[in-house]
Amino acid sequence: MTLIRTPPGWHLPEHAVTPETAYLNRRQMLRSIVGMGLGVVGLPAIAGCQQSVRSQAAAHAQLAATLNTPSLEPYQVNPRFAAVDRPTTDRTLAGQYNNYYEFGSGKSVWQAAQKLPTDPWSVEVTGLVKYPRTYTLEDLLHTFPLEERVYRFRCVEAWSMVLPWLGFPMRALLTQVEPTPAAKFVRFTAFYDPQLMGGLFASLYPWPYTEGLRLEEMANELAFFAVGLYGKRLPKQHGAPLRMVLPWKYGFKGAKAIVRIEFVATEPKTFWHTVQPNEYGFLANVEPDVPHPRWSQKTERFISTGPGLSWEKRPTLLYNGYANWVSDLYPR
Ligand code: MTE
Repeated sequence: MTLIRTPPGWHLPEHAVTPETAYLNRRQMLRSIVGMGLGVVGLPAIAGCQQSVRSQAAAHAQLAATLNTPSLEPYQVNPRFAAVDRPTTDRTLAGQYNNYYEFGSGKSVWQAAQKLPTDPWSVEVTGLVKYPRTYTLEDLLHTFPLEERVYRFRCVEAWSMVLPWLGFPMRALLTQVEPTPAAKFVRFTAFYDPQLMGGLFASLYPWPYTEGLRLEEMANELAFFAVGLYGKRLPKQHGAPLRMVLPWKYGFKGAKAIVRIEFVATEPKTFWHTVQPNEYGFLANVEPDVPHPRWSQKTERFISTGPGLSWEKRPTLLYNGYANWVSDLYPR
């Protein structure tokens, strides 16, 4: 595959490079002008004119509709992951602060992402497995009991959230398809349709978005497939209808809208690693003492409650606080 050196949009000052205070001041100024929260950013409201207030209200209603997906009840709350050491992030904030490059390189991709066609949906499980199989979304929902897990979520850009995912452990899928002894890695491929997904620089990126794990990482108790969030089916901006959740790794490892899972013998090429191998490693574990080449990873900006965007600076935890589960995978 050709190596394409295109800086990801997270090089943009909005969310990584701008000093936090300048960024916050700009946000606070916008907020005080229109008296609304994060939702105002990127929307056409600067002066207090009625027109823009109306479009703000319309956008908020539209955002709420994208989050109001069908309920996934009944499900169990997994008591081992019922809470973490900080509050759950506000649903409306999480639903409008996303990374989804198929639909654009900014954070406000929630509207564009509504173009994602999710029905019907199927996921092909193939490669070095005893029982290859294609699952429809309904098959997945009927085969695997759903559970809720509250996980810390840490982006490589040094912001973080806490999210209540709904889904099933990846190891449950392994039990069904039985990888052969030759299988050492797993490649995950996201849905891609160039007609629908015209994100900025779209033609320069090595689509489709792919990610990879070592087989033993996929078998770890924490590795999770999400079909829902906040008790409901996954909103499209979060990667409906099926995405990966790996709480000890940086968020880019959690590919959205998965359509293919392939068991392979050698380390697969992955999207960001192909784009910028010196910045985005294959393992991509959260490690405070391993800086990104352009910024420190020692602290993070935790996004928690609404109505507006507010950051709380916190120390980054080794493996995002999940060392007890995963440190055996990475002898130091
Ligand atoms: N999956 C796909 N298909 N496309 C993407 O651009 N971005 C990744 C990850 N999964 C991405 C993706 C990155 S960089 C992050 S931080 C998380 O999704 C963001 O997930 P969220 O928008 O649900 O918070």
